[in-house]
Amino acid sequence: MSVSMINAQSGENRSNDNADLQIRRLSPALGAEISGVDLGAFVDDATFSAIHDALMEHQVIFFRDQDMSVERHLELAKRFGTPTYSKKLPKYDGNDYVSLIQSNGSTINVGGRWHTDNTDFKAPPMGAVLLCEETPSLGGDTLFANMYAAYDSLSEGLRRHLDTLVAQHDNSLVALRFAGTEFVGDGDKGMSVGPAVEHPVVRVHPVTGRRALYVNSSYTRRILGVPPTESEHLLNMLMAHVMTPDFQVRFEWQPGSVAIWDNRCTQHYAPNDYTEPRRMRRVQIDGDVPVGVS
Ligand code: SIN
Repeated sequence: MSVSMINAQSGENRSNDNADLQIRRLSPALGAEISGVDLGAFVDDATFSAIHDALMEHQVIFFRDQDMSVERHLELAKRFGTPTYSKKLPKYDGNDYVSLIQSNGSTINVGGRWHTDNTDFKAPPMGAVLLCEETPSLGGDTLFANMYAAYDSLSEGLRRHLDTLVAQHDNSLVALRFAGTEFVGDGDKGMSVGPAVEHPVVRVHPVTGRRALYVNSSYTRRILGVPPTESEHLLNMLMAHVMTPDFQVRFEWQPGSVAIWDNRCTQHYAPNDYTEPRRMRRVQIDGDVPVGVS
């Protein structure tokens, strides 16, 4: 099934006036599915505010059966912030701000490791809006994990210690994984390794004020100011901790499904467990410089 079969009506004639949003939690940890909204139509301020509140509460939100043009997709992302110029991933129809994530029997997929998007940036993206256009008949799900819960479940003493630490992040591992694959964007053929950046190990969310664990196995290289072996052991322990199933939700895509996630308090992972085609359209949203516990 392709996304164009879902709703043939033009987005121009549809509206969300008096939208009656229904929010259903998908797991105790995080994630909610929202119905009663048409993302292919203009999203008015009241509807956007309800969507934004749901994202702040549930950290990742999902929608089904959406017929959302590229223009509406970008417009929705812009309500959250500035879309990221898509340099590393292939462009969708040549659009600088829309990325194509496509697998066709690949042995590697773009999100196939636990990560928070681009923590190799000084100001990593705040989130993304991902639309599924085509999904395998089995597999191709995405898992999300709650980094508030990962932090909150640690012992008080360890939390106080982590609150003081800073870690170095870079894209050397990502560059290695993607070298020579179809996932390397037009603007950065070799996916060059950029300079390392530093982020607090515990991030304070700029909207909710909650503390979230902010290290991930794709980009975090070492914890600064401690001996290398201590950094290695601490990171290994934290990486295993963030993968605890209790912190997760798993989303099964269908054509027309949309996910919006908040990178400031989540990680995600897209298992490479399929060989049939999978095709997603993605707009990433710029974020701010992470602030730690003061
Ligand atoms: C991503 O990591 O942004 C992609 C997730 C996915 O393809 O499900």
